[in-house]
Amino acid sequence: MSLKGKIKFYRRLDVRMAFWYTITFLTTILIIFGFLDYRFQHNLLKEIDRMLIDETHEIINQILKHPLSIKEKLKSQEEIVAKRRYYPIAFQVFDHQLNLIYTCSKLPGFIFPKPSLDEKNFIIPVLKKSVKGSRKNLPFRLHTYFYREGSKLKYVVQVATELKIMRKSVENFRENLMVAFVVAFLFGSVGGWILSRKNLKPIDTLTEAIKRINANQLNERLPIQGIDDELDRLALTVNEMIERVEEYLKKLTQFTADAAHELRTPITALKGETEVLLSRKRSSEEYQEALINNLERLDYLTRLINNLLLLSQADEGKASLEFKTINLTNLLRELQEAFFLVAEQKKINLSFTGGKEIFLEGDWLRLTQLFSNLIDNAIKNTPEGGEVALELQEENKEVKIRVKDTGMGISPEDLPYIFDRFYRVDKSRSRDSGGVGLGLSICQWIVRAHQGTIEVESIPQQGTTFTVTLPILLS
Ligand SMILES: Nc1ncnc2c1ncn2[C@@H]1O[C@H](COP(=O)(O)OP(=O)(O)OP(=O)(O)O)[C@@H](O)[C@H]1O
Ligand SMILES: [Mg+2]
Repeated sequence: MSLKGKIKFYRRLDVRMAFWYTITFLTTILIIFGFLDYRFQHNLLKEIDRMLIDETHEIINQILKHPLSIKEKLKSQEEIVAKRRYYPIAFQVFDHQLNLIYTCSKLPGFIFPKPSLDEKNFIIPVLKKSVKGSRKNLPFRLHTYFYREGSKLKYVVQVATELKIMRKSVENFRENLMVAFVVAFLFGSVGGWILSRKNLKPIDTLTEAIKRINANQLNERLPIQGIDDELDRLALTVNEMIERVEEYLKKLTQFTADAAHELRTPITALKGETEVLLSRKRSSEEYQEALINNLERLDYLTRLINNLLLLSQADEGKASLEFKTINLTNLLRELQEAFFLVAEQKKINLSFTGGKEIFLEGDWLRLTQLFSNLIDNAIKNTPEGGEVALELQEENKEVKIRVKDTGMGISPEDLPYIFDRFYRVDKSRSRDSGGVGLGLSICQWIVRAHQGTIEVESIPQQGTTFTVTLPILLS
């Protein structure tokens, strides 16, 4: 394997996971083995100490029972302990002034330390400590016992033994632990590897499934195992994302097709009229009439292109809005005046009811565009003699602006779609009156950009009400 290949191998998730599984497993095993080793040694020593204490008491008993023949009794005790094969014993007995009464030291390499009569030793009756022998790796265990009657020291007894057998047991135990450790290491690393591969297999499956999905195959979805684990949740999130992308692409394709269609109709009309016009000589009136028609179509095209541009900028989040403190009451009053003549031509009464002056943070131009479209729609869709009313009402921290008309209304089937791009209830009529079908989509974007909402209610043949709710500045 080259160096690059090696680095790649070690960076693989399954290799890293297997590595950490093994490390964690082995660390746990090491801690457990360390604890077992400590406990094993500790318990063995405890047993040996108990044996030394028993031995000390036996010697003291002999002395106390036979104060006149201490030496003989200790001699026979020496003969008994001399027969011990595994834990040979050495002992010494002193009187209260630390004069040696008897000694039996048959432990090769071991020299009894002299007991000291310092305060501490005197108070503590039982002392235990390991004393290093002259031979390497041959420690001994010594028990010094201060026997008192009342507070008076009578005898000091020292009993020692060799720890060779115990060391052998400990070594044996450690060898077993080593074998167990090697076996655990093999099982742990192989198990860790298998486990990490098994855990990562579903990720491989997901990756393969994601690879299969491209722009032309967005109807495919990732498999869900149904156990609600992290991978299932990941697959669900990716599926939701694909759904949104699919929805967005569908809308985009539809929008492009609609836009092309909307552009084609007036251009075909422009071309047709120009061809007919050029097919023979015309009078100047005929030319003028045709040019006026074409100008109307060019106007329509210009509006269409401007609106398309605005919407695509809005989609990208690039359409700029200039927020300033504006007087909404003034804005609506100006619009009422601007549309007054158009309404009058259709014998429509355009009224405005607003209370006090209301201020909000907004873009004057865009808000004018929003309410212009709503008023324009209302006038366009209301027959002669009807009513269009603008109402302004302050509610808590919001303002509600209603554009009400007594027009033809919108059927419940059309109502959910009227904010869709290019949606017109009656296409030919709307186009005849210069409607592009983008007005309400732009209105919706403007309202959202101002943190507001737009709602519509309509009863066919009775009228429509658009309600725009915007947050206001509190005076
Ligand atoms: N007040 C209303 N009464 C009845 N129908 C309406 C009303 N307002 C809107 N509509 C319907 O909703 C459609 C969409 O309106 P929208 O403003 O988006 O498009 P438009 O007015 O046809 O064209 P544009 O505003 O882009 O020039 C209209 O074509 C019309 O059919
Ligand atoms: Mg409109």
